Amino acid sequence: MTTRAEPLRVAVLASGRGTNLQALLDAARSADFPARVVVVISDRERAVALERAAAARVPAVFLDPKASADRDAYDAAMLDCLERHRVELVCLAGFMRILGGAFVARLRGRLVNIHPSLLPAFPGLRPQRQALDHGVKIAGVTVHFVDEGVDTGPIIAQASVPVRDDDTEESLAERILVEEHRLYPEVVRRFAEGRVRLQGRRVGER
Ligand code: GRF
Repeated sequence: MTTRAEPLRVAVLASGRGTNLQALLDAARSADFPARVVVVISDRERAVALERAAAARVPAVFLDPKASADRDAYDAAMLDCLERHRVELVCLAGFMRILGGAFVARLRGRLVNIHPSLLPAFPGLRPQRQALDHGVKIAGVTVHFVDEGVDTGPIIAQASVPVRDDDTEESLAERILVEEHRLYPEVVRRFAEGRVRLQGRRVGER
């Protein structure tokens, strides 16, 4: 385990309500948490995530997609912002834009996402609905590195929850969310402690 002189500098990219962002902000309030959220970026001006950032006195940046000519230009604006804040790890948390290949390549190994299914099952939209429709008995959450595909990158950590017979999409999502809020800060801690090792598709402890 590496002991860092300074906390790991984390950016969170979020489009919506930002409860995972909140979990990271809350974790980072504790003095022994080895990471800090140093900037929050959103593509939606009214994202609750931006309010949460501001309430935590973390720079909250709305990057307007309409102000960029195309996806590459938007990605470049994000990279510029990340560089200005000297970000070391980027956490996607409900960020609803597709990221371009150049962005992903530039941040390879430093860009992670949280997805509310046990990948590789149920990538993409409404994974909880997909899980119910498929009839699985165990659902869960995955934190993974981002690669060029949709929810296809190397898996860093997973947690499972039971699916109940009377579950709705909402009740299942809520049960998974509890695990999300525990798992994401745990993964960020592992990063900050230098305990995430990527070898091919497999991620192990250093
Ligand atoms: C979470 O379920 C996350 O796993 C998925 O999008 C949702 C974002 O929720 N990628 P929140 O904005 O963090 O509350």
